[in-house]
Amino acid sequence: MTITPQGAIFPNGEQLTWQNIEKIKKSQVNCFVVEQGTIKAIQVFSEQTNRVCSLLPTKGTPSMLIAGFTMHRIVDIDPLQDTLKKVATISPIVGRVLDTATGLGYTAIEAAKTAEQVVTIELDPGAQQIARLNPWSQALFDHPKIQQIMGDAFEVVSTFEDESFSRILHDPPVFSLAGELYSGVFYQQLFRVLKRGGRMFHYIGDLNSKSSGTISRGVLRRLQEAGFSRVVRRPEAFAVVAYK
Ligand SMILES: C[S@@+](CC[C@H](N)C(=O)[O-])C[C@H]1O[C@@H](n2cnc3c(N)ncnc32)[C@H](O)[C@@H]1O
Repeated sequence: MTITPQGAIFPNGEQLTWQNIEKIKKSQVNCFVVEQGTIKAIQVFSEQTNRVCSLLPTKGTPSMLIAGFTMHRIVDIDPLQDTLKKVATISPIVGRVLDTATGLGYTAIEAAKTAEQVVTIELDPGAQQIARLNPWSQALFDHPKIQQIMGDAFEVVSTFEDESFSRILHDPPVFSLAGELYSGVFYQQLFRVLKRGGRMFHYIGDLNSKSSGTISRGVLRRLQEAGFSRVVRRPEAFAVVAYK
């Protein structure tokens, strides 16, 4: 990048004025696209879900905000480190992997490094639009092992064959945004599509907090009722891991 008295010039010729650099610096909650000398916040209103999705800057890898909720841990941890912790709970990542909630694709991209195939599902076209504009999500669109499906995981998972995945990454939004993804009926479907000997990561939230503690008790019970032989708390990943 070249710095001039007028601003900055990117290697591709795009220019950014000092005034726009100031605006970007002041914004705590938005990332921007620079196009033909203008800046545009990476933010969309999703007609399908009536929610605003945006790319949230952090000190490291960006996160996504949906209806004001961050889709990754960002306090004292970078979304990429958060992703590594999530995926490590069900290592080794082998065979076909189901990723129930694509988001920015970080879990899908990490899993694709060793999996045979990753099938990832996203409900919200707005979230997908944000991922398209995020440089850290690009493998989602061009990694040959990643298959993206747009739809509601609650419906899509019921169409998969029995025992067709070795690992499941279940990383839903908070309970208040996606309660059905924490339901016994959905857990029965996840159990059905998981191979015997398979493992499932399930993000819940800080298990030591009051609200997530309460949610986790219900989750543990419903997972056991769905048939999982063992469910283990993994507080370091804000999650539980279920074994079939
Ligand atoms: C916590 S984020 C997933 C983060 C992702 N694992 C990553 O690494 O970036 C949850 C995502 O699930 C999506 N979502 C919400 N409800 C869904 C549903 N019923 N089916 C599929 N995706 C859903 C949201 O739009 C959001 O993008």
